[in-house]
Amino acid sequence: MTLYRATFLHTPVNPFHHSDALKIEDDGGLLVQNGQIRESGSFADLKAAHPTETVEDLRGGLLLPGFIDTHVHYPQVRVIGGLGVPLLDWLDKYALPEEARFGDSAHAATVAREFVSGLISSGTTTALVFGSHFASAVDTLFQETEQVGLRTVAGQVVSDRMLRPELHTTPERAYSEGKALIEKWHGKGENRYAVTPRFSLSASEGILEACAALMKEFPGVHFTSHSNENLKEVQTVRQLFLKSRDYIDTYEQAGLLGRRSVLAHNVHMTDRELGAMATHNCTSAHCPCSNSALGSGFFPLKRHLAAGVRVSLGTDVGGGTGFSMLKEGLQAYFMQQLLGDSGVPLEPSHLLYLATRAGAEALEMDGQIGDFSAGKAFDASLFQPPEGSTMQAVLNNAHSTERALASLFAGGTQADVKRVWIGGKEVFTRRETAQAEPV
Ligand code: GUN
Ligand code: ZN
Repeated sequence: MTLYRATFLHTPVNPFHHSDALKIEDDGGLLVQNGQIRESGSFADLKAAHPTETVEDLRGGLLLPGFIDTHVHYPQVRVIGGLGVPLLDWLDKYALPEEARFGDSAHAATVAREFVSGLISSGTTTALVFGSHFASAVDTLFQETEQVGLRTVAGQVVSDRMLRPELHTTPERAYSEGKALIEKWHGKGENRYAVTPRFSLSASEGILEACAALMKEFPGVHFTSHSNENLKEVQTVRQLFLKSRDYIDTYEQAGLLGRRSVLAHNVHMTDRELGAMATHNCTSAHCPCSNSALGSGFFPLKRHLAAGVRVSLGTDVGGGTGFSMLKEGLQAYFMQQLLGDSGVPLEPSHLLYLATRAGAEALEMDGQIGDFSAGKAFDASLFQPPEGSTMQAVLNNAHSTERALASLFAGGTQADVKRVWIGGKEVFTRRETAQAEPV
């Protein structure tokens, strides 16, 4: 066993429902055995109870539960930063040409490494991943996540219209390739499968039926897709699905909505759609950097909360601007500020919850990960800014640990991640370089 000594923060309950949800241990202890937290509390108490255990001293930084990114695209690493165009133009100009390259196994393998290392070096330990349209590339992704140990829920992206021919499949092929991937990867190590039609715009009713057939045959798998992101997209979907009441109904009628369904964006939602999401107990993955970069709109968080719809956070790389969940938290905060009375004032507790436990709840993994309670896996990221950096000065002089957390969300980057663990295994350690000096 190892007794970790650290300043740690976590949200074992939902701060949108409970005051006092943010738990802070300024001199905390986490007793970890076989990758699992056995006891969680103050260092003094744990040390007194376990005087001979090896102590690993992580003081000098902030230890947070590993981030959980609930919407991120593997084949879009290299299109981060395609700014200046709305969703459908962005897909044509940036995302789809790059995604068409993933039939090339060497490219798929190189980007799989870039993708997984990008996530873990940003402090993300679990991700719900939009895979590739190519089954072989999804297989490559799972091989990489298995090797590194990233907790991954991912699937083959399927579409049969309105993208480009290389990315189209058929309902029969979507079913058979999906089945083979599920049988190979769902439940293998820390990998799980998500049935993933790209969005209703690029899906016939037939392909949604093939998705539903997979979910029926393999009840433990997850479901993810996009919804109500961009007004032009919403209008087109309405024209394509004349028998559906609205966008959400295209998935609902196909039987794709349930406890393990996560729909990204949901910017332009009717009350009926929010009610349907609540009824089916599914989750909205809010991707504020993407929504801002693509000009998609303001996320109606207040209406989600009022309707009782679960909300988590995603980076949406590469419509989003990078792998940092700190940046997503900050952008979520900005967006709600700019909404004025229609927004929800977010506090550090909300930002931490959205980046961690909310994702665990979205994936129905909150019994296992998402906070530092006893019984959870030791998935953790140590944020400790480099010597001499601005963030070091800010964090070292914060008036309280809660203020330090707010500062970390405001100004923290990948450069501040020092160490990352998944299930007790250290998966990332920052290489210290010489301190930069002003000339
Ligand atoms: N809708 C369909 N495909 C995509 C995508 O790749 N990114 C985003 N942001 N929205 C989508
Ligand atoms: Zn997306």
